[in-house]
Amino acid sequence: MQEAWWRGAAIYQVYLRSFADGNGDGLGDLAGLRGRLDYLSKLGIDAIWLNPWYPSPMSDGGYDVADYRSIEPIFGTLAEAEKLIQEAHERDIKIIIDVVPNHSSDQSAWFQEALAAGPGSPMRERFWFRSGHREGPPNDWQSIFGGPAWTQVPDGEWYLHLFAPEQPDFNWNSPAVREEFLDVLRFWLDRGVDGVRIDSAAVLIKDPDAEPDGLDPYTDRDGVHEIYREWRRVSDTYPGRFLIGEVWLPDQERFARYLRPDELHTAFNFDFLSCPWDPAALRRVIDDTLATHVPIGAPPTWVLSNHDVTRPVTRYGRPDTSFDHGDRKHGMTSDRELGVRRARAAALLAMALPGGVYVYQGEELGLPEVEDIPDALLQDPIWARSGHTDRGRDGCRVPLPWSGDAPPYGYGGEPWLPQPADWGPLTVEAQEADPSSMLNLYRTALRIRRESLGDGTLTWLPLGEEVLAFTRDSGLTCVVNLGREPVRLPEHQRIRLASDEVDGDLLPADTAVWLV
Ligand code: NOJ
Repeated sequence: MQEAWWRGAAIYQVYLRSFADGNGDGLGDLAGLRGRLDYLSKLGIDAIWLNPWYPSPMSDGGYDVADYRSIEPIFGTLAEAEKLIQEAHERDIKIIIDVVPNHSSDQSAWFQEALAAGPGSPMRERFWFRSGHREGPPNDWQSIFGGPAWTQVPDGEWYLHLFAPEQPDFNWNSPAVREEFLDVLRFWLDRGVDGVRIDSAAVLIKDPDAEPDGLDPYTDRDGVHEIYREWRRVSDTYPGRFLIGEVWLPDQERFARYLRPDELHTAFNFDFLSCPWDPAALRRVIDDTLATHVPIGAPPTWVLSNHDVTRPVTRYGRPDTSFDHGDRKHGMTSDRELGVRRARAAALLAMALPGGVYVYQGEELGLPEVEDIPDALLQDPIWARSGHTDRGRDGCRVPLPWSGDAPPYGYGGEPWLPQPADWGPLTVEAQEADPSSMLNLYRTALRIRRESLGDGTLTWLPLGEEVLAFTRDSGLTCVVNLGREPVRLPEHQRIRLASDEVDGDLLPADTAVWLV
């Protein structure tokens, strides 16, 4: 039997608002994406994961969904989404959508109906409405974006929101909520989507009555698994489709529960994404990841960046190369040259490991985090909710540079977040012309990966504590030097690909090679 396509897929994440603007309003859209499908085809990816594309007031970049069965008008129409699916399929590119089950927008019909219906109404059972406690909120839970996790409505009740107040949490004890999402899944699977990314997948179950105080919102609760078993039963009726969970959990044993054979197919590997550029730490994460996935037959995923985290070339150039949501290290000095060098090596490492790999738009261009967006233009709710102490995630969401030497760099209208003046050399156009560019490194790596990497197993080679080296089933060997001194390469016939120049048999620091 042929292996399921998603097990070893290279999946490109499109943050639609910032990808390409087809109608000149400064906001990326479906027309812009459809116009760039050939770019993605040439890049050599297997699938596109799109962040939420539904009607939304955009209080949290579309993760505040007002209608799960339609398309946000600034992005386009349902008919255009269907055309996108078809045009992507014509190029052998699959489409993965983002479903947000933990919360909706406060502008959704359900939440508006619940508000209008008043206390005691069954409509309120779909969310977490509670009476206050001594004039204040029902308990002391805090929102992940900062501030209290409860907001009071005019009739006196409070509702729960783990994220922004514009994102009321669903009550998953409600059968109506469960039915609704099964129907939403079918709606999109019927339209031909190939996969579903599940937002905040671990936090659906909570019980403010049982847990009056204290909350780690990212602590999962056992009841969540029954939900995904139901989802899996639905997705299994559509052959070839898959579910991927956004599961941030430090406990590997609990993480693995999501990947049991009757639950999700895969989940994002955030330990890899958060890991510092350190050989022992990376080796530990890789080994732990394989130990978690292999026994249950789930393919690991390798993720270096996404729309929530600091861009790799900035992160890897800092004195502290780890990523942590609690401390984004905004403004910490970063050595750009070093960061780029390591990001190139990290890409070859991630793409050589067994399983699937995710590439966040702009990663293939080596875009840095934009750290000087003027305060007044910041849009991420984290900025306001943190009392202006955390600048949030806008720095990795700046619209892509396509061509030319000044903003908007062929992106479309005036970008909704300003692009830096020095991005001329980073445009697709400029990088296509430069054989040693990040873009050409990604293109070549993805092509080789498609032929001889993907899912399977690896065998470690002992090349010293500062080096990560392993051979894949196809015979291709990946060697990454994370030390300060050059290291001698193991015996090989030739170098298929190198992240930077190699000096004969000596692999310089912060460099990776693929050998045959
Ligand atoms: C995770 C998403 O990746 C992030 O962008 C969003 O803010 C939260 N979930 C809430 O939906």
